[in-house]
Amino acid sequence: MFQRLQQKWKVNGLQLLLILCTFAIGGSLTGIVGRRLMNFIPLEQGWLWVIIYIILVTLLWPLAVLVVSIFFGQFAFFVTYLEKIAVKMGLARKKDNLQMTTDQTPATNPSRFVKDTGISVIRIAIFASGAGSNAQKILDHFRDSAHIKISLILCNKSGAGVLGIASTENIPAILIDKEKFFRGNAYVEELRENAIDFIVLAGFLWKIPAALIKAYPGKIVNIHPALLPKYGGKGMYGNYVHEAVIQAKESESGITIHYVDEHYDHGDAIFQARCSVLENDTAETLAQRIHLLEHEHYPQVIERILSPRQ
Ligand code: GRF
Repeated sequence: MFQRLQQKWKVNGLQLLLILCTFAIGGSLTGIVGRRLMNFIPLEQGWLWVIIYIILVTLLWPLAVLVVSIFFGQFAFFVTYLEKIAVKMGLARKKDNLQMTTDQTPATNPSRFVKDTGISVIRIAIFASGAGSNAQKILDHFRDSAHIKISLILCNKSGAGVLGIASTENIPAILIDKEKFFRGNAYVEELRENAIDFIVLAGFLWKIPAALIKAYPGKIVNIHPALLPKYGGKGMYGNYVHEAVIQAKESESGITIHYVDEHYDHGDAIFQARCSVLENDTAETLAQRIHLLEHEHYPQVIERILSPRQ
């Protein structure tokens, strides 16, 4: 239970202890002050007394935890916590944890997310269907990162290489059930339970359901092994893409990293890198060159998207 809370609130053990102390002392303080204040109200204990007491305690509680949190060094946490409660009660509008700025041309300079709350670690879920070489590179890149953590891997294919990577790297993995993905909750609950902030598709072959896009607006990215908008769309994956590029006698191909919307390979482009298509290229040799580009750029582009503004 404590581990769950740590994950949910993204805090370490000591911070969790201080937060729980704040709750306990803040709660007691509310009770004591509430009872004292009720002495000033000239009413016998009855239903009206109870209603007034409940209203008073509801108003006092946030104030009490905020005051106590100062002494436990948890003021920033409780401000965010109370904001969330206010949003849930419809008293305030939702503020995105991560905000996007588009101050540079998307195709060459990815927009960046700016942290504007107390979130100390951005937790990423990787969705993949295949070997997982991109997933591995992303894991390697962020292994020692202080503010970005690969926290979950989701895969739709039992026996896929990426599941082996998850187990070697000790990363929790979920094998996606098709029915649940498309007709159920699209795994939004599981992502929330794991406190996922951002989703990276790395060779994930299924279309992302609208429910998931709605739950993570502007927070899902994909990599495509061609220069979109050409050679994208349904059925354009793996070697089919490279075969089409070669057949069309293109002189160059490349990669596109883009935001995900409800259509295949369609959302706003963030980054593209190019490579030549050689005369004697086969789908396999071109795929190798494209993979090198993916491995070189995908982790870095993710980092740039998620890095706090300088
Ligand atoms: C990559 O080529 C990527 O562009 C595409 O699927 C492939 C995944 O390869 N979306 P891997 O599983 O990461 O090796």
